[in-house]
Parts: sequence; C-alpha cells; structure tokens
Amino acid sequence: MYTALLKTEHLTHAFGSGDTGILDICLTVSRDDFVVLAGKNGCGKTTLIRHFNGLLMPDTGRVLLNGQDIQKDLTFARKKIGMVFQDPDTQLIADTVFDETAFGPENLNMDREEINESVLSTLNLLDLGHLQDRNPATLSGGEKRRLAIAGILVMEPELIIFDEPFANLDYPSVLSLVRLCRTLHQSGHAIVMTTHDVAPVIWLATKMVIMDKGRIQEEGDPVSLAPCLESYGVKNPFTPMAQAWAL
Ligand SMILES: Nc1ncnc2c1ncn2[C@@H]1O[C@H](COP(=O)(O)OP(=O)(O)OP(=O)(O)O)[C@@H](O)[C@H]1O
Ligand SMILES: [Mg+2]
Repeated sequence: MYTALLKTEHLTHAFGSGDTGILDICLTVSRDDFVVLAGKNGCGKTTLIRHFNGLLMPDTGRVLLNGQDIQKDLTFARKKIGMVFQDPDTQLIADTVFDETAFGPENLNMDREEINESVLSTLNLLDLGHLQDRNPATLSGGEKRRLAIAGILVMEPELIIFDEPFANLDYPSVLSLVRLCRTLHQSGHAIVMTTHDVAPVIWLATKMVIMDKGRIQEEGDPVSLAPCLESYGVKNPFTPMAQAWAL
C-alpha cells in the first residue's frame, strides 16, 4: 500500500490574537515531490510548514510522517524533516561553521569520527569547507543560508522545507541555491518550498500549491497553474513585468 511521506489531515490553527493562521489544510507530500507553496504575505505559508515538525500544534487535525502521527515521536520527525528558516540568523548558534554543522549529530550522540566525516563532506558539498573555522556571524547572507542548509543536511532528512529561501539573495546566489535544490531533489530528498517568487523553481517543482486566507485554494501542475497566480497576489513568472504593470 502506498504511504505518503508527509500528510496533513484537516489542519487548523488560529492564533490567540484572533488571526486565522491556517484552515482545514489537507496536503500530501510524496517521496519524489518538490512542492512549491505559493501565496502572498500573511496567507499562512509559514504557519502551515511549522506544523510539519511540531514547531506549532494544530487546534484540529494531525500531521502524519510515513503514516505515523508526528506527535508520537517529535525527535524522529525533527530528524527526518529539516527546516531552513526564512532568516538564517535565527538558526545559527555555534562559534564556528564546523561546530554549527556538528550541533545536530552531537545532540544525537553519534560517534565522534562519524560526525567529523559527515560534517566535512556536507560542508564541502555546500562549498563551505574553506570557511569551517569562521564564526557564523561573519558570513555573508548567502553563506549563512548555505550553512543553515548544511546543519540540516548532515542529519540526513527525508524532507527539506525551505521558507522563502530567495529572500535577500542576489542573482548568482539564487541560481546556486536553485542548483543545490535540484541536486538535493535528484538525490532523493523531497522538498517543500514556500515562496512568493515562483520563477526560479517553476521548472523544478512537481506540484504547486497556492494558499490564500489560510486555505489551499489551488493545487496541481506548476506550469498549468501559473495563470491563476496573479488572482492570489503572486506574480505569474510567464508575465513580463512591463505587462504586469499594465494590468
Ligand atoms: N505568532 C503569531 N501570533 C499572531 N498571529 C500570527 C502569528 N504568526 C502568524 N500570525 C498571523 O497569521 C497569518 C499567517 O501568517 P504567516 O506567517 O503564516 O504568513 P506567510 O504566508 O508565511 O506570510 P509571509 O509571506 O509574509 O512570510 C498572518 O495574518 C499573521 O499575522
Ligand atoms: Mg512566511
């Protein structure tokens, strides 16, 4: 029987302030998916993905990982589902790039030699090997984002979630991140990416989900759904900016 990698069942979360976070979200992520979660500011993207590894608890509904409720073993869910936050600074805590990347495996009490080996190979994969002794605070924005990804990759997650990964990145950094996402996807990681700029990833995505007002409004093939984007406040990547201005 097919079991989805991740499944949300009727997730609803309202904030104490009365703000609706998300409403009745039913979403399935398969092992080979690259899901783009698109929607304008405040539509509920971050609120939704924070439920995927239990950073937020739903008012109703549940999240299943490989068919199991994540609440049964949150440590396992957080190992299998890595999350790269919108602001990498919130994720970086150690004094060196090496220690930052080793933090997760050390908490799992992995063998020291095994940790050193996997940290070095992960840093090299992300072109951070030469920066291993640097203080993370001194890295550029693009390097910090790669370091945040390193700290997640070293845990060997099945699903990697990127929250607005292109924010504050210049064009070469966007391209290098897109290439990295493609490599990660091709090497067997499922990916969920929130963004209000779908252009860099529309050709990589297997599925696009459009959110508005806390709900999933559209779901399907990314290129076919592109014309719907503008009605939900997201730029259609196939509309030239000059034409969008005239709309
Ligand atoms: N901790 C909180 N307390 C109260 N309201 C919140 C909280 N977090 C989010 N919200 C509200 O929930 C709604 C959804 O916010 P969310 O951060 O999920 O949006 P988003 O789609 O990620 O937006 P953006 O594109 O700006 O990142 C917004 O109205 C927001 O103000
Ligand atoms: Mg957000």
